[in-house]
Amino acid sequence: MAKQKQIKLGAIIHGVGGHVSGWRHPEAITDASVNFGFYKGQAQKAESGKFDLVFIADGLYITEKSIPHFLNRFEPITILSALASVTSHIGLVGTLSTSYSEPFTVARQFASIDLISDGRSGWNVVTSPLEGSAKNYSKAEHPSHPERYRIANEYLEVTRGLWDSWEDDAFVRDKESGVFFDPSKLHTLNHKGEYFSVQGPLNIARSRQGQPVIFQAGASEDGRAFAAKVADAIFAGHESIDDAKSYYADIKKRAASEGRNPDEVVILPGIAPIIGLTEEEAERKYQEVANLVTIDKALDYLGRFFEHHDFSQYPLDEAFPELGDFGSNSFRSGTDKIKQTAKEKNLTLRQVALNVATPRNEFTGTPEYVADRVQAWFEENAADGFIIAAALPKGLDDFVDHVVPILQERGLYRTEYEADTLRGNLGIPVPANRYTKVNV
Ligand SMILES: Cc1cc2nc3c(=O)[nH]c(=O)nc-3n(C[C@H](O)[C@H](O)[C@H](O)COP(=O)(O)O)c2cc1C
Repeated sequence: MAKQKQIKLGAIIHGVGGHVSGWRHPEAITDASVNFGFYKGQAQKAESGKFDLVFIADGLYITEKSIPHFLNRFEPITILSALASVTSHIGLVGTLSTSYSEPFTVARQFASIDLISDGRSGWNVVTSPLEGSAKNYSKAEHPSHPERYRIANEYLEVTRGLWDSWEDDAFVRDKESGVFFDPSKLHTLNHKGEYFSVQGPLNIARSRQGQPVIFQAGASEDGRAFAAKVADAIFAGHESIDDAKSYYADIKKRAASEGRNPDEVVILPGIAPIIGLTEEEAERKYQEVANLVTIDKALDYLGRFFEHHDFSQYPLDEAFPELGDFGSNSFRSGTDKIKQTAKEKNLTLRQVALNVATPRNEFTGTPEYVADRVQAWFEENAADGFIIAAALPKGLDDFVDHVVPILQERGLYRTEYEADTLRGNLGIPVPANRYTKVNV
């Protein structure tokens, strides 16, 4: 399989961080999750590093035990819309749940960002792992894991259909003749399915990139099948290069068997590099973060993945408790992995909680070392690029200032944007409007 030549990069902008106690770090801006100046600064920093995209994650349910960033943060569409006006080339990707929204509204929202940004929007399609979300959306219960993916499949059919409502040359806007649009280029979807009934047409046209870019982060069996079928780009989480390689091979194979070109499915594992100018400095930075976490907070953090299970009821220094099916209707792939690792490595509850809350990852070290690992994952078909999460308040700055120049020097990463649409930079084609007749 021909491998694309250049690494793709994205940055998660995640306020005070995905870390339980990151907000207490001496350099942290404590209101970062609701601070527009912070988001603007991070987006512009990523753009100065020629990143393909910034990404805003999301969830729909909190408790008092949720990590600080989840307690008080921006809604993705709203913040992306604001970021569109202070950036010019970088892609703008946000999470929105197919289990708790309506396709007509969501199709409009992403199409609007796509026009506001002139072709830079992307949608991370999630099915919502958190059961409590049902309580915020007037629903008696959270749909089961397989049903959430069935809903998501139909949802994508609807949104993609709606996005093609107007052919690209439908709007004539001829003042003289009084013709605003050509009715033969307006199409009504008339979708009637198991979950949705949507007539259309959508009241907004396509952007220069045709349709917003579809992202997904499926890792379970249903999740992988869905991602390989619909996603242009896929976020993943891996503990080792071997895990990443087998996921990569599996997804590319599934995409091919869906009749897709596997090179047009961009796989982006999430990594949280800790970069020091020396090895000692990197280790010190890791310790700085790890030492902020108390075991109570780590247990709370772990609990969220298991339907907010209360882990404080178990002895800390005995084997990780037997949880049965707990977690399999929420973050299924993640909770399966936690249980499996605990069993294989004979870990105690304390060890599991601290590992999950402050993972020590292989992207910790000097800029050259981190660049070597990035290159290895890319060249050994474990990744097409990466989505960078900042483990420290200045994590993105460290990566852009110190690692990006090394990757550029090695010819692995762009020095200028190839395009000013997200599809253009990711190297994925503009989808033809399904109704437009092609002259052959
Ligand atoms: C980089 C990355 C970003 C993610 N962002 C979100 C998010 O914003 N919201 C969310 O609910 N889940 C997010 N997820 C979690 C996935 O939804 C999660 O892995 C989930 O378990 C989906 O996979 P599964 O249903 O196939 O297990 C993200 C995962 C990764 C690796």
